[in-house]
Amino acid sequence: MDPCHRRWAVFLDGLWAGDVPGVRAVLDVCCGTGLMSAELVALGYRVSGVDASTAMLARARRRLGDGVPLTRATLPDLRPGPVVDAAVSTLDGLNYLTPDALRTTLAVLAARIRPGGWCVFDLHTDAMMTFAADHPVVAGEAGGRHFTITNVVDAGRRTCDSGIEVVVDRDGESFSEHHLQYFFTDGEVMTALTDAGFVVLKVTDEYTHDPVGPTTLRATWIARRRREPASGLPVHRVRHGTAPPTDR
Ligand SMILES: C[S@@+](CC[C@H](N)C(=O)[O-])C[C@H]1O[C@@H](n2cnc3c(N)ncnc32)[C@H](O)[C@@H]1O
Repeated sequence: MDPCHRRWAVFLDGLWAGDVPGVRAVLDVCCGTGLMSAELVALGYRVSGVDASTAMLARARRRLGDGVPLTRATLPDLRPGPVVDAAVSTLDGLNYLTPDALRTTLAVLAARIRPGGWCVFDLHTDAMMTFAADHPVVAGEAGGRHFTITNVVDAGRRTCDSGIEVVVDRDGESFSEHHLQYFFTDGEVMTALTDAGFVVLKVTDEYTHDPVGPTTLRATWIARRRREPASGLPVHRVRHGTAPPTDR
């Protein structure tokens, strides 16, 4: 299994340990090949996954077997489904959304998460945008594969267009992919979460409780769905013929 996802899952497990009524059902948003889902299943969570890519979902299905419901959906178009205790999105899955799509996605997720439930995800930071701009070409070897990543950062639009080429070996298969990612400002994310009805508990350095620092490349946003209406105004249930409660 992948060591990052294991560490991240253990962090989430600790985060949710004191939750009442308890976190059991988790939606893995942009689940990809199911690395995070697998770690959460191993820790005893009831996981379901959603991703836009048929190919990714096919790999997730092979990894996870038939016990994990997987849905193909391109966010923010997520159909209504069972309510969950938490939604997570790891490895910069939400960086693929435009700012508008992020806002709508968080609102759609709020409708799928129970009051008091959790929304935890990571996003690239400005330090990552600077890193990508400073490293227009990154090449190396990983798991016997040679890879080349080219990054074109548009700082004005706050986007990074990345080309990824992977060569398995001299005779093996090669593949290339293109990704467009968005770097959101903290203000954009904060407003999107608040407007969707979440309370942001903290923003930390990559699935730790450490605060985000100048070298943090991946920030973890930890939010909970508000228990009261999003307006924050108290709701008084008034029976016909009775006055609303007063402080006296
Ligand atoms: C970098 S991978 C992360 C996968 C997984 N979360 C992980 O931790 O390994 C990003 C995933 O986001 C998915 N994705 C990108 N845009 C999406 C969208 N609009 N709706 C749903 N999934 C999307 C891609 O198909 C891909 O599987």
